[in-house]
Amino acid sequence: MALWSGRFDGTTEESACAFGASLPVDKRLFVQDIAGSRAHAAMLAAQGVISTEDAELIDQGLASILRDIESGSFDFELSDEDIHMAIERALTERIGDAGARLHTGRSRNDQVATDTRLYTKARLKALMDANLALRESLLHKAKQHSSAILPGYTHLQHAQPVLFSHHLLAYYWMLSRDFKRLMSAFECADASPLGAAALAGTSYPLDRSASAEALGFSQVIPNSLDAVSDRDFVADSIYAASLSMVHLSRLCEEIILWSTSEFGFITLSDSYSTGSSIMPQKKNPDFAELIRGKSGRVIGDLIGILTTLKGLPLAYNKDLQEDKEGLFDALDTLEESYRVMAGMVATLTVNENAMELQVKKGFMAATDIADYLAKKGLPFRRAHEIVGALVLLCEQRGCDLEDLSLDDYKEACDLFDADIVDYLNPEALVKARKSFGGTAPDAVSEQLNLALNLQQSQKDQLTALN
Ligand code: ARG
Repeated sequence: MALWSGRFDGTTEESACAFGASLPVDKRLFVQDIAGSRAHAAMLAAQGVISTEDAELIDQGLASILRDIESGSFDFELSDEDIHMAIERALTERIGDAGARLHTGRSRNDQVATDTRLYTKARLKALMDANLALRESLLHKAKQHSSAILPGYTHLQHAQPVLFSHHLLAYYWMLSRDFKRLMSAFECADASPLGAAALAGTSYPLDRSASAEALGFSQVIPNSLDAVSDRDFVADSIYAASLSMVHLSRLCEEIILWSTSEFGFITLSDSYSTGSSIMPQKKNPDFAELIRGKSGRVIGDLIGILTTLKGLPLAYNKDLQEDKEGLFDALDTLEESYRVMAGMVATLTVNENAMELQVKKGFMAATDIADYLAKKGLPFRRAHEIVGALVLLCEQRGCDLEDLSLDDYKEACDLFDADIVDYLNPEALVKARKSFGGTAPDAVSEQLNLALNLQQSQKDQLTALN
């Protein structure tokens, strides 16, 4: 029998009922639904709205339902439209009238918003933890290979050499901003809608602050219409997850590229690679490709929630039931991706020799040679032209700038002296870029210290959350 059977002569068509049900999706909110109901019942009793005996029965009944769902012995029924109705039905079956009093001063509208916020907060915390763990792997790899140099690219063409650790740290910083976005989504979710009832509040003397505090919310939403219809926290969470996935996807792309035989900069461990069913020689970076692929689906989740929300009048509309599938998908996908990525990074082998071979190619000293001339008074544009001609000469001879003789340099411009050779090796090129945030070893170790400090302060921030 439906909860609204009093008002209806007929019953809902069976297939429409199944269409309207959200139980398969929102089942996973049972922990939060039960916590929300226990807090609501305790508050009702404290306010004298229900008796303490009823509140006690409700609390015990809910505790037994929690145990049964956790152990898998709870019987969901076909008529259970969603997790809220399933739990309330079972409670009333178990404790009678006291169970039927639980819904006093409450609606499924504030109930589902409460559950989803609690759930989102818990998952965001786990995500921030996983984010920190991946960053730990990146820091560790960066420290392990602190002197390795690889070509830095623009347009995927050799540009200027950079330290491998500098390259990895670039991802560290992206991920540290993802942490901030996850934290900001957490703060957005951290406000209680409970007690807003259906849309307009209630005539019962509820203490919204008490239930909010019992549930660990740091504030109470001050407008009941907003409380039941706001899903900003869902959109914020999916946005934070989307950009995080985009960052992972970019790292995956480099991992895939670097593990090709053309690059050979890294070798993925067997534990994070797959083979081919037909080509015996293959070792594929499937997991990196999958993360790159899954990022597309998470971006889809973001478009989904924004599109669902954009035309909705106040307050609750059933459209809002569609918020959870995308949210859960985005949170699940990011968490799995973080864990896989952390393992993949921790176990990959860095082939410093392969990097070194590539660093010698691509005329990457060109800018520094032009700077050398400019520092001796030649206008930079003129210097650019001279070095361009030297590169052309190298191409004709099939060599790199490092292989030209001092005479070749002097012939191109008489400002060149013997000290030009000091500018040509990759170590010198890297060492010269000592500006703050640059790739010189000293600048990178300063950067590493900043990263380590941030790692600790964000860890502390996470531990301080309730
Ligand atoms: N399953 C619903 C959801 O997820 C719960 C709220 C239903 N409220 C209503 N007025 N029909 O949105």
